[in-house]
Amino acid sequence: MIKTEVTIGKLTLKNPVLVASGTFGYGDELIDSIDINKLGGIVTKSLTLKPKAGNPPPRIAETPCGMLNSIGLANIGVDRFINEKLPLLRNFDTALIVSIAAKRIEDYCEIIRRLENVDGADAYEINISCPNVKEGGLEFGTSLSMTAKVVSETRKTTDKTLIIKLTPNVTRISDFAKVCKEEGADAVSLINTIVGMAIDIRTRKPKLSTITGGLSGPAIKPIALAKVFEVFQNVDIPIIGIGGISTWEDAIEFMLAGARAIQVGTANFVDPTTPLQIISGIIKYCEENKIQDVNELVGSVLIDADDNIAKVSFRETTK
Ligand code: DHB
Repeated sequence: MIKTEVTIGKLTLKNPVLVASGTFGYGDELIDSIDINKLGGIVTKSLTLKPKAGNPPPRIAETPCGMLNSIGLANIGVDRFINEKLPLLRNFDTALIVSIAAKRIEDYCEIIRRLENVDGADAYEINISCPNVKEGGLEFGTSLSMTAKVVSETRKTTDKTLIIKLTPNVTRISDFAKVCKEEGADAVSLINTIVGMAIDIRTRKPKLSTITGGLSGPAIKPIALAKVFEVFQNVDIPIIGIGGISTWEDAIEFMLAGARAIQVGTANFVDPTTPLQIISGIIKYCEENKIQDVNELVGSVLIDADDNIAKVSFRETTK
């Protein structure tokens, strides 16, 4: 029997495979498509204090090996989530990680407080990296001081596992992970989407109403992998890897680079059974390679000590 449990802060996941925020609704929409109890966990669509209609259409565009979206955090708001979604979600035997987005730091804390008053959430993933809103989102996630403030204030609000979702749209993501650790976060998840753009050459108009949006899917996988590796080399904090993971091989790559758990996002739109196939693939890989415990994979990429260029350069730049 392969040990598949991984620990993220105070939270133990039955396996390292989660579904990413925004790609699995509130966790209830795909009940008929897959056995949710087999997942390591669900990360909900980001919740805001008040319901949000999001950005006007068009807000999705397909791109080579991926997609652009500009949903604008459309969601039912924390109160409706508590009343309409949580009662059902509580019945699943999988970790429930509630994603939270806000314009103001007080709002992040207020959303957490409302969720703390009821039973159900196992952890929070703080979205400071949405590229599609004017306030909040990247405004927080691209500033070290704002990131520090969001983490320290949310940390004061909950003892539950606190995961900060980081953006790759910065010069050095490991600096942000370091701040998250210093301010008391339990883990970081990375990467959120990369700002991108597409133009319809017939109409000469941008394909998204907001002009730019967040790029996701296999196109971003190598970038995400490099960011996970960078953070793993520089900061001692659990990492949840995200970015174009569509196969079990992708998941293993992320774990070797340093991810303790992974999230499947855009691939859910192609085939919602992808996360379950990934779990089976990870177990088979471990069996075939005589690995007893998936934790042995974490960060165990083999780097030649002599030409360890990437490692050295990350260390030097982050002094
Ligand atoms: C949205 C939020 C995100 O965090 C992201 O990466 C992409 C899109 C959104 O709701 O617009």
